[in-house]
Amino acid sequence: MPRDSVPDALLWDTADPYHYLRLDRHRDHDIVVFGGEDHKTGQASDSHARYERLEDAIASRIPTIDLTHRWSGQVIETPDGLPYIGQMTDHQYAATGFGGNGMTFGTLAAIMIADAISGRSNPWAELFDPGRAAIRRGLWEYLKENADYPYYMVRDRFAGAEGRSQRSVKRGQGKVIDHHGAKVAAYRAPDGALTLRSAICTHMACVVRWNDAERTWDCPCHGSRFRSDGGVISGPAEKPLAEISRDESSH
Ligand code: FES
Repeated sequence: MPRDSVPDALLWDTADPYHYLRLDRHRDHDIVVFGGEDHKTGQASDSHARYERLEDAIASRIPTIDLTHRWSGQVIETPDGLPYIGQMTDHQYAATGFGGNGMTFGTLAAIMIADAISGRSNPWAELFDPGRAAIRRGLWEYLKENADYPYYMVRDRFAGAEGRSQRSVKRGQGKVIDHHGAKVAAYRAPDGALTLRSAICTHMACVVRWNDAERTWDCPCHGSRFRSDGGVISGPAEKPLAEISRDESSH
């Protein structure tokens, strides 16, 4: 966008879902990162609408802006909102759950873990201890987060698939279809080629969903994401969605 269209500041609102703006000044223009519309992975069915709301919001404030890129990423949050930083077991340290504040907490984690390895005591060690009771603060948040798994697990495993036949999957679309009584993640590429993978998440067996904005299979239970060919983009799942045997996929 034109240089100096907005003040050089990190701005965000307090709405839910919220929007934020970050600035990267250049000699003759500014690059702005405008984001928000956060939602839990695999639990929003309107990814396109979320992008549109972001684009409308920034374009209405800065009409001359040139929209060049869009993407979505994941932030990891703990039940009580504070990161886990510290020792897990002998010679193993964790630093995670930064909730989008990686510059701050990443620096803090480096200091704390260096202290731990060097045998120096650190005043924040107890606060960020990965072994702290998950429910010490925010019992309700803890229960809410952990309700996702049984809820989606039971609901999706017993719900009917979205479509019965492979023919119902249009070009560029992904769909969970019923295939010989199994739930199968079917993706048809723009050239018409069909990829079939098991729709059962390899973490703890919830049913994945198609994310039409990112063209990924997302799991609503703990946020694992898979490429259209089943490969893992992000965990906790570590294994790709299972292949459907040729015999099964030939029908
Ligand atoms: S069951 Fe899919 S991420 Fe846990």
